Amino acid sequence: MVERVLVSPGGPELSELIQGYWRVSEWDLTPQQRLTLLKQHLEREISTVDHADIYGDYSCEQLFGEALKLDKSIRSRIEVVTKCNIKLLSEKYPNRSVKHYDSSAQHIRHSVDNSLARLGIEHIEVLLLHRPDALMDADEVASVFLELQKAGKVKHLGVSNFTPRQFELLQSRLSSSLVTNQVEINPINFNVAEDGTLDQLQQYRIRPMAWSCLAGGKIFSGSDAQILRLRTTLEMVKEEIGANSIDQVIYAWVRRFPSKPLAIVGSGNIKRIESAIESLKFNLNNEQWYKIWTASRGREVP
Ligand SMILES: NC(=O)c1ccc[n+]([C@@H]2O[C@H](COP(=O)([O-])OP(=O)(O)OC[C@H]3O[C@@H](n4cnc5c(N)ncnc54)[C@H](OP(=O)(O)O)[C@@H]3O)[C@@H](O)[C@H]2O)c1
Repeated sequence: MVERVLVSPGGPELSELIQGYWRVSEWDLTPQQRLTLLKQHLEREISTVDHADIYGDYSCEQLFGEALKLDKSIRSRIEVVTKCNIKLLSEKYPNRSVKHYDSSAQHIRHSVDNSLARLGIEHIEVLLLHRPDALMDADEVASVFLELQKAGKVKHLGVSNFTPRQFELLQSRLSSSLVTNQVEINPINFNVAEDGTLDQLQQYRIRPMAWSCLAGGKIFSGSDAQILRLRTTLEMVKEEIGANSIDQVIYAWVRRFPSKPLAIVGSGNIKRIESAIESLKFNLNNEQWYKIWTASRGREVP
């Protein structure tokens, strides 16, 4: 069963698994099929959906919005997370000369209005700053967030891929708490486990959102020595805990961090989504968790 959880003290209630929509433009689904998928994960209690303005070259929010329009009763049953501050080089924005970040009030305002229009909704539950931006003025972000909150367009603010220092900086200018830091967590990327990011979130009882838990599928298809070692060990642990497949072991590995990450599922395949849900019943002990760490690193812990 997928539980509803508080993402942070004072933050919103979300589903403990989140459906990612980054790849929806690759799934080649009609609006009706997209609605069916949305209903399928909602029936299985995955009610939180993750978007970004830029996904699918600015098309994914629109694709989702088209499906949502087909059944208006669904809107009140889901929580929408979306992001802003990356400016892609795109034919849709021919005047841009370089991919860059923009965390100005003007851009955030504009991006939120675009996301609301594409998604066909009146408010966003959680808006994330997608990437740390060297030119971010924290006072300016705080003031535009208040404005958007007062206008009822955005309920909560969070960040993505921020270091603890960047998180603290922005938090220092806000009157309400940042509700999450959405970061990459999987057994081939240990950055956030080692740079203080997850420690900080644990300290504040803020739950991270974990993106690319399955390393974008690389753990299944890769053939380098690290991935081969990792797959062998994942298979071993799978047998030990009685899981059906190694993706379930990986989700259990991600969930084992004491900051209690909310995993974002990247697949649009309902069988794979169901497998992620089933993984919630598996818990790894310390030895199993560190066996996976050791296999990935190719050495024992110091
Ligand atoms: N904040 C950020 O910077 C950021 C960055 C990246 C992603 N995200 C968010 O995180 C979500 C998840 O990221 P992700 O899509 O990279 O997640 P992921 O779960 O690591 O990767 C999904 C990919 O793995 C494949 N896959 C899943 N299970 C598989 C299996 N058993 N065997 C072989 N391939 C398998 C999927 O293929 P199928 O589709 O064929 O199942 C899909 O291509 C995104 O949708 C997005 O919302 C956020």
